[in-house]
Amino acid sequence: MAIEKIFVVGAGLMGSGIAQNAITSGYTVVLNDQRQEALERAKLGIAGRLQHMVDKGTLTEEQKEECLNRLSIDPRIAGAKDADLVVEAIYENLNAKQAVFEELEKYCKPSCIFASNTSSISLTALGAVTKRPERVVGMHFFSPVPVMRLLEVVYGLRTAQNVLEDIQEVGKKMGKTMILAKDKPGFIVNRALIPMLNEAVEILDEGIGTVEDVDTAMRLGCNHPMGPLALADMIGLDILFQIMQVFYEDLGDTKYRPAHLLRKMVTARYYGRKTGAGFYLYENGKAIGVNPVLTRDHALA
Ligand code: CAA
Repeated sequence: MAIEKIFVVGAGLMGSGIAQNAITSGYTVVLNDQRQEALERAKLGIAGRLQHMVDKGTLTEEQKEECLNRLSIDPRIAGAKDADLVVEAIYENLNAKQAVFEELEKYCKPSCIFASNTSSISLTALGAVTKRPERVVGMHFFSPVPVMRLLEVVYGLRTAQNVLEDIQEVGKKMGKTMILAKDKPGFIVNRALIPMLNEAVEILDEGIGTVEDVDTAMRLGCNHPMGPLALADMIGLDILFQIMQVFYEDLGDTKYRPAHLLRKMVTARYYGRKTGAGFYLYENGKAIGVNPVLTRDHALA
């Protein structure tokens, strides 16, 4: 099936990255979010990043305009009515994602493929609330989407082979290397990555090292491009917590219990880079130092 028009649900970090990657790969994209201000922010962000590509000489001014002309924003799910592919990229919650899929079912044409960018939730469970479980599939991108080369394609119990082939075409056109993963929490990448990030938070909480020590350790000791705490801030501590919670509940092993400090950070609304404070503090998206609540010594006078 030829896929030309993509409807992306959720204009956060992942959704806007997917939309950007798709328009620069020749697709027509409608970016959807209930929050009009999130849509406006995402559109501005995409335009800014395309301008950066023009400044660097990897895109011409004309190509940038063509890409932006292929992008529109729409706060209504009904805007998906002529989409060939929907990519859902809202927050990590089964009920919320199922509600989006049920809503999409009302408007989308029968041939439309429903993909989810979920990092931990069952594709089989998402497919089960639709009338097209064989057309439900996981397209798990990595942040920052336009930069990261991998696309993890996830098949639910009822996902059809021809749908996997159609998705493979899309991934190829978007410049991704693909791996296929079975529907089990975290699939391949996050099953390995997220517990490592959670463990880094435990290490910090146990006082084995400081925020900088933990990040320097993994950057210089393992050649990771960024430390686990900085990466946790980039992913979002709320997202990290939600993924660990899914692992803990679905895999049923205490080794997946979210780190106590992670829970506290989320409770305190330190969600990471997007809120300006996580393990680090941020100004204009750049880290300016360790969050001082993590370094202070307590003493009563
Ligand atoms: N969107 C688009 N492009 C971005 C970007 C963003 N949010 N952030 C950085 N970039 C681009 C920059 O513009 C730059 O491109 P140019 O070379 O064309 O200018 C390029 O990425 C490199 O950026 P920087 O030079 O600023 O910084 P860097 O060399 O340190 O790279 C990084 C930044 C790509 C984020 C790198 O540190 C990295 O690879 N980190 C690890 C990221 C990672 O592990 N991602 C997976 C997270 S897990 C996930 O996403 C799945 C999940 O379900 C939780």
